This record gives sequence, structure tokens and C-alpha cells, in this order.
Amino acid sequence: MNQPLGRPGTADVPFSDADFQALAELAHREFGLSLAQSKKPLVYSRLSRRLKARNIASFPAYLKLLNEANETDERLELISALTTNVTSFFRENHHFEMLRADCLPAAIERARGGKRLRIWSAGCSSGQEPYCIAMTLLDMMPEARRHNVKILATDIDPQIVAKAKAGRYPAEEASSIPDRFRQKWVKLSVEDNARIVISEELKGLVTFAELNLIAEWPFRGPFDAIFCRNVAIYFDQATQQRLWHRFADMLAPGGLLFIGHSERVTGPAMQMLSGVGITSYQKIAPHRAAHMQ
Ligand SMILES: C[S@@+](CC[C@H](N)C(=O)[O-])C[C@H]1O[C@@H](n2cnc3c(N)ncnc32)[C@H](O)[C@@H]1O
Repeated sequence: MNQPLGRPGTADVPFSDADFQALAELAHREFGLSLAQSKKPLVYSRLSRRLKARNIASFPAYLKLLNEANETDERLELISALTTNVTSFFRENHHFEMLRADCLPAAIERARGGKRLRIWSAGCSSGQEPYCIAMTLLDMMPEARRHNVKILATDIDPQIVAKAKAGRYPAEEASSIPDRFRQKWVKLSVEDNARIVISEELKGLVTFAELNLIAEWPFRGPFDAIFCRNVAIYFDQATQQRLWHRFADMLAPGGLLFIGHSERVTGPAMQMLSGVGITSYQKIAPHRAAHMQ
């Protein structure tokens, strides 16, 4: 039903099914987002704010603007409006426990022997996830910074990456950080509006960068573990499949992939990734994967 949104008799801007379809196509092409028709009211409410902010009179005019080559900032505003940055310290803590028990002991031993240790937080939002990886790692390897150890943290949204780099959060967020980690690596800053501040020691382990997960990746890995939690939920099945394959290619044999609580690796990607715990997958060694085909 082509029911334009926008209340008659108010200053609301009409939003037709054709407008919605055109926006959904752009969001899919640029960012892999899958927007079902049922999301139309949500998209309308989020994007009518953008039209207001840019003083644009109609959705077709907004679409025209989005398609202009130099409007990358507005396209990023679009993805910010259509996705959420919700995250927290030690969210889905079982993943950090599995990292500690099943991945880090051997990876740390290799790093102490001169090899690389790499972990990727893909879709890191405001940084809580990579900082929790850094706490887990530094707790087991206090001398990590003297070795070839790095955590890469990426997100498509430049504003959220800047926030992640700053490492400053409302004080109440600290409650989910275990006491002994909080005492070591988190300071309460009275000058900074009673915010908590992440220590330079933790920050020094993490490299932040902007990256669209459906575009080219400017690195080759391999990674000992990849966290990509609550990101693929926005993508359609085909985009998710491609992503699982690309993550599997990026993992070292035996490396772990952690995904969000409502996400699952399914289909052909399971030939490379086997389930080893709640929303946790392990890269199958290439010779075993070949046997499974
Ligand atoms: C809900 S947050 C997840 C944060 C964290 N991983 C967690 O689970 O707590 C989703 C993040 O995915 C990012 N995102 C959405 N689409 C993306 C894409 N195509 N490439 C990279 N990041 C994307 C958003 O900017 C947002 O910060």
C-alpha cells in the first residue's frame, strides 16, 4: 500500500513507498544494510530529522543529495540514523571468558616467542568492546606492549571512532567492569564532568580506524580472534554470508569469531567456521575444511 507518511495539516514531509525503496536501495548498495518494508515508519522518523537539519523540503531532494559524489558525510549520517551504536563494557561476557580460556594462552605464548598476536573488533562503536579485549589481554600479559601485540578496532562511523579513541564515558558505565580491572585501567575524572577515562596503557594497545565492512579491507591478517557483534544483524543473508567467508579467510587456523546474541553463522560458511560455544565459531584448519566438502 503506497500510504505516504506525514500527517495532513502539519509541516511533516510526505514519505512514499517509492522514497522508501530508493533509500533502502542506497543503504544496501553503500553499506549492505537490509531495510524491510516494516522499517518504513522508523526510517521516516529518523530521517525526517536529517531533512530538518539540512533544511531539505522533500525525500526525493534528500535522495538526490545523498547520491552526489561529495556527500560522503551525509551518507555517513544516513548510516548513523539507521543503525544503533548501543554497546557496553563486557557485554556478553562469555565471549571474553572464551577469549581468555581458549585463545589467549597459546597466542600469548607465540607472541612471547616473537610471533604476532592480532585481535580485531569489527564494528567497535564507541570503543568499550576493544578496551575490554585490551583489559583481558593485559591482565594475562602485562608486558604486551613490548611484543608484537595489537588490537585493531574499526567502525564505519567517523564520529563514533573519534569517541572510541577519546575513551571517555559516563561514570555509571564503569559498573560492568570487574573491580580489579577498573582499579588498574579506569580513572574517574572530576574535571571531566565525573566521566571515566581509559588509561593510556590500554589505549596504547588499540589502533582505531574507519572501515566499511562491506568495502575493501586494507589489511591481510591473520587474526587470532575477531569480534563482530551486533553488526551483521543489519545485513541481508547474502551480505552476511560474504562477511562470514571474509572473516574466515582473515582468521588464523583455530582462530575464534565472536558474533552478536541474535546472529548465527549458517550455510556454506559453516565449512570454514565450526560452532564452539554460544555465538562463537572456530576457523577450521584448511585440510579439515577440504575433507568436509
Ligand atoms: C550495535 S553497535 C555494536 C557495537 C559492539 N560490537 C557491541 O556489540 O557492543 C553496531 C555498530 O556497527 C557499525 N556498523 C554498521 N554498519 C556497518 C558497516 N557496514 N561497516 C562497519 N561498521 C558498521 C555501527 O556504526 C555501530 O557502531
